[in-house]
Amino acid sequence: MGIQYFEKQKIFKLDAGNTSYIIGIVDEERFLGHVYYGRRLSDDGIPAESLMRINERPFVPSDNNRDRISFYETFPFEYPTHGIGDYRETCLEILDSSGHSTCRLQYVSHSIFRGKRPLDGLPATFADEADCTTLEIVCSDDLLGLEAVLVYTAFENLDVITRSIRLINNSKAPIYLEKVLSCCTDLDGDNFDIISLHGAWGRERHVQRLPAGLGRSVFSSGRGESSHQCNPFVAVAASDATEDFGEVYGFNFVYSGNFYACCERSQFETNRVVMGINPTGFRWLLEPGQVFTAPEVVMVYSCEGIGGMTRTFHDLYRGHLIRGRYRDKKRPILINNWEGTYFDFDTEKLLSIAREASSLGIEMLVMDDGWFGKRNNDECSLGDWVVNEDKLKGGMKHLVDEVNKLGMGFGVWFEPEMVSPDSDLYRAHPDWCIHVPGRTPALSRNQCVLDMTNPEVVEAVYGMMKKILSEANITYVKWDMNRALSDLGSNWLPAERQGEISHRYMLAVYGMMDRLTTDFPHILLENCSSGGARYDPGILYYSPQIWCSDVTDAVGRLEIQRGTAMVYPLSTMGAHVSDCPNHAVGRVTPFETRGYVALSGTFGYELDVTRIPEEDRKLIPEQIRLYHKYNDLIRRGDYYRLAAYSENNIDDAWAVVSKDKSEVLLTYIQVLQRPNYRSRRLRLKGLDENAVYTDMQTGETYSGSALMYAGLNITELHGDFKGKLIHLKK
Ligand code: DGJ
Repeated sequence: MGIQYFEKQKIFKLDAGNTSYIIGIVDEERFLGHVYYGRRLSDDGIPAESLMRINERPFVPSDNNRDRISFYETFPFEYPTHGIGDYRETCLEILDSSGHSTCRLQYVSHSIFRGKRPLDGLPATFADEADCTTLEIVCSDDLLGLEAVLVYTAFENLDVITRSIRLINNSKAPIYLEKVLSCCTDLDGDNFDIISLHGAWGRERHVQRLPAGLGRSVFSSGRGESSHQCNPFVAVAASDATEDFGEVYGFNFVYSGNFYACCERSQFETNRVVMGINPTGFRWLLEPGQVFTAPEVVMVYSCEGIGGMTRTFHDLYRGHLIRGRYRDKKRPILINNWEGTYFDFDTEKLLSIAREASSLGIEMLVMDDGWFGKRNNDECSLGDWVVNEDKLKGGMKHLVDEVNKLGMGFGVWFEPEMVSPDSDLYRAHPDWCIHVPGRTPALSRNQCVLDMTNPEVVEAVYGMMKKILSEANITYVKWDMNRALSDLGSNWLPAERQGEISHRYMLAVYGMMDRLTTDFPHILLENCSSGGARYDPGILYYSPQIWCSDVTDAVGRLEIQRGTAMVYPLSTMGAHVSDCPNHAVGRVTPFETRGYVALSGTFGYELDVTRIPEEDRKLIPEQIRLYHKYNDLIRRGDYYRLAAYSENNIDDAWAVVSKDKSEVLLTYIQVLQRPNYRSRRLRLKGLDENAVYTDMQTGETYSGSALMYAGLNITELHGDFKGKLIHLKK
């Protein structure tokens, strides 16, 4: 059993893979305290009381009424609450009907069962009974009549513990929830770094590592989306932890809206990590008898460095989060017309691209923005999901049929959550956009956000989408979202529920994606948000792949894909070869190199294949051959970071090793050539050190130990932005 309760010591011991997580109940007070999180412990001899430091004066709760605050502000509360005297970050803040905000949770009961229950209306990891055990601890504040159920799942064979919380109002009066975070962990130790993922449009998920200073380090989004700027991920690593060694704790929020994560190094140098829905702007009215479920946090522990954490996240998400027919399958190689044509296309243009593409081995045509309403630029028509027959002569079905006749699949772009002020939908229902009455909502990319909290809006938009998807053989949808939320106000929600908009918005979007994938299980859903502003585990529950970034430049992509792969599997990373000079940065890189970088993602093309240079076009069949040859390995294997251009200013390298260690694909990109420089030695990782590996191109053989400990010499490539793939087999 992965979770046990030891009655004598009053501790819960959660064992997940090589990890233990221990929670104690403090005798008289019935507070839940965090005892330990880290490398797996044996069941006996765990000094829980002393690890929680409840016997150290003046922090002893029971014999020290004079200084109870000393206890409250140092005790490692498992789920700290606001108002009682714990002045560090807390997880729960309420407002009761008499205007008070203090809450004090005490242990009531618990249950332990095999398996994992889904979270109501929310994305979450899943597993069979054989794979995990769940603990639910019921706590309550009897004065408020508020019950909190802390939910933990320990995975049997992965170093993963998930957490969420359910709040139930058992009182007779309403309670406002002002802050409900999903997890808290007090880590002991005074030498930690914090790793996080930051960026901007076109520079998503760049890795940042900084020492954890005293005070609070906050990572958050208040944009209504998980955002380009900060990903809902944070890791706390021992300051001497490397890619391969040392302790790392990773936290990832299974949610796509506003989030808040904070690492607080306190006066006594404990490190509290909290994560959950961003409390700014959040207020949820919990009426008597109602339940609120907070989204899930995934916690990964690694004693094998940052790389170990990464590979655990990848295994978890590939096996226990991503769903649908495409989860374990090679995805169709697609050509998307966005960078090829932007809004300037019609049936004939698309068919000419498809004809050329199919002759080269490309498997699907994706028609991006601009096929509906009167949309010839970004100034109108979002919300009018009706085919523009001036552009698509003969309609959608005709186009799809013609593309199908070429042996290709067909995909289409939608931006379901948005409305242009210049649209029939907006003219008919101006109140359907999110706005504050009396204020003109700020536009972004000329568009407003639909009030997805209103079921009528969802019904109308989904109805239009369903009609399009039912009328032709469409097997892929790109779901885009090109602006953040602002001017929060819903015409549909009552005044006392306006603080619920952002979360209800997310629940409605999830509900709609759920409907789409249920009604059309054969459709491959790819999410996108102005590039990669919604790259999070919440989205991965509905779509197995996400567009990484609007920057398709091979060099720009190196750090984006490296940062993304810190947490998210390569099989999820939307990556395409585009034309040069690159539209976003003006850089010219070899077509081959663009291919090597895109091969480590879902792979496809983002160009007008009829207009690229002939010498590039000729390379496409070879790239497609490489995709078919290596994609199973790339999708399923273990990923190792070997070198980072963002750190060394020279080159980037990563490798994917098959689970049975029988083969490895090394991708090497020499970003800048150095004059008068010799070969570059790269040490591989994760191989079988006793095996002999053959370079499939040169026939050279190497021992696994030589490859890992001595390294492989990569001879210099002539010129900047050059790359190569090295395939080694046992
Ligand atoms: C932003 C996306 O990231 C692009 O790929 C493209 O779909 C545009 N939106 C279309 O408006």
